[in-house]
Amino acid sequence: MTEKSNHHAPSAPHPLDALHPKLHDVPCLLVIFGGAGDLSHRKLLPALYNLTLEGELPKEFAIVGFSMEKLDDDAYREFARGGIEKFSRQKLTDEAWAKFAPMLHFVSGSFAEAKDYLKLRDRLKALDGEVGARGNRIYYFAVPPAFIDDCSGNLSAAEMIAPPDGAHGFTRAVVEKPVGHDLASAIEINSELAKHFDESQIFRIDHYLGKETVENLMVLRFANTIFEPIWSARYIDHVQITVAEQEGVGTRADYYDRAGALRDMVQSHILQVLCMIASEPPRSTHADAVRDSKLDVIRSLRTIEPADVERLTVRGQYVEGLSGGEKVPGYLEEPHIPPDSKTETFVALKCHVENWRWAGVPFYLRTGKRLPKRASEIDIFFNSVPRILYNARPAAPLTPNVLAIRIQPDEGLALKIISKVPGQTLRLTPVDVDFHYKTASPEAYETLLSDVIVGDQTLFMRRDAVEAAWRFVQPILDQWERSAEAPVPYAAGSWGPTESALLLARDGRAWRNL
Ligand code: BG6
Repeated sequence: MTEKSNHHAPSAPHPLDALHPKLHDVPCLLVIFGGAGDLSHRKLLPALYNLTLEGELPKEFAIVGFSMEKLDDDAYREFARGGIEKFSRQKLTDEAWAKFAPMLHFVSGSFAEAKDYLKLRDRLKALDGEVGARGNRIYYFAVPPAFIDDCSGNLSAAEMIAPPDGAHGFTRAVVEKPVGHDLASAIEINSELAKHFDESQIFRIDHYLGKETVENLMVLRFANTIFEPIWSARYIDHVQITVAEQEGVGTRADYYDRAGALRDMVQSHILQVLCMIASEPPRSTHADAVRDSKLDVIRSLRTIEPADVERLTVRGQYVEGLSGGEKVPGYLEEPHIPPDSKTETFVALKCHVENWRWAGVPFYLRTGKRLPKRASEIDIFFNSVPRILYNARPAAPLTPNVLAIRIQPDEGLALKIISKVPGQTLRLTPVDVDFHYKTASPEAYETLLSDVIVGDQTLFMRRDAVEAAWRFVQPILDQWERSAEAPVPYAAGSWGPTESALLLARDGRAWRNL
């Protein structure tokens, strides 16, 4: 009989290390379209600063902001500094700033003006000569979807896009969510991109995929032996995914009122998380292998037919209430929201992944603004213990095991198990085996920007996945559009409309208390 091997290899190199170049070995220029916009200010520039602080960025690297604002390099550096002071994960230090500031440059121009791209091209050429970026370019489209067409068309006309073979350096395009407003517009944007870029050059961002705990889902499932054997309808009763926000619509009224929670959160972030939970083991850790297995999940989602929309979905809109102890206005009273808006700020729905692994297991999804707290969590509810032994008393059934995977805040895992209360009498109680990451995880944008630089597409959405996700939500959007009903009101600071609780109560279940 051979003994089972029991190797400990704590510092074994990760297989991806061999596949991808190290971040600091990849010279390139990063051009941010919309470089002086909100996303750059709050997320991109602080993320790039953090990468600098950790010595991750290549030496042969520069960042060029491109947009309409009339800024010079110095003014752009001040803009970046303001964003870093306010939003950076790690404090601004003089030493790191002295390294970071010289990397920042600005070209003022219009996305629609061909001549401005010539100006940009000349500046990139000069910078390339200075830093030695070897023709490598990343174009980050931090712009509303309507501009993507202009940006990629003009880049192409100015011959600023290298072919995907990489013979003259690489070109990569980073596209922010939302990709489209519905299925038709998503197809249109993707087709426009495809005229100028090969799919291998396109990095569609879903920042949830860059969150440490979301990325860790695959590791949890496929780098441990204890979960996978029980990860199916045979042992799992149902799954809940909650992405709760305490904030209201904030300053994004214009975008949000046209989007709503289903487009803003479900079509993208929540379906991506669902894919990580429900996918089959990929054939390898290669980007397309991982993305293929996730795509299968979205394509296996049972279509919610128009006749079932009312039964399987709930849409809500917050009204005045208390948030963090303070009185806050309702959605319709928020600045720049039309007083008759029917946009949903909350959505809950029940769906099914129709394959052998998941047949019969409902997935309940919910997200909303102005909920009691910021909390994103995946809860895997296991089947009940058989009604024998410790679970034989019908009046006091045992609580089933639950694996709670906290995405944010307080990233970690908790496994609810039944345990004996110490003492002479036999009393049972659920207890949590709780694990907190407690490490300073990088921000999603740090991870995602690093991946773009090294050219790893694993955490980015492929065209087919984006369109498949739209295919799933489109019938719901259409039915809501047709219906004369308005979203159901819920008080700010509550967990959404009662209909959300009813969605589960009808099945004899309840949302987990977060
Ligand atoms: C964005 C949505 O994609 O994600 C916002 O457009 C939402 O409406 C945000 O607030 C939530 O992200 P996070 O990382 O704060 O959970």
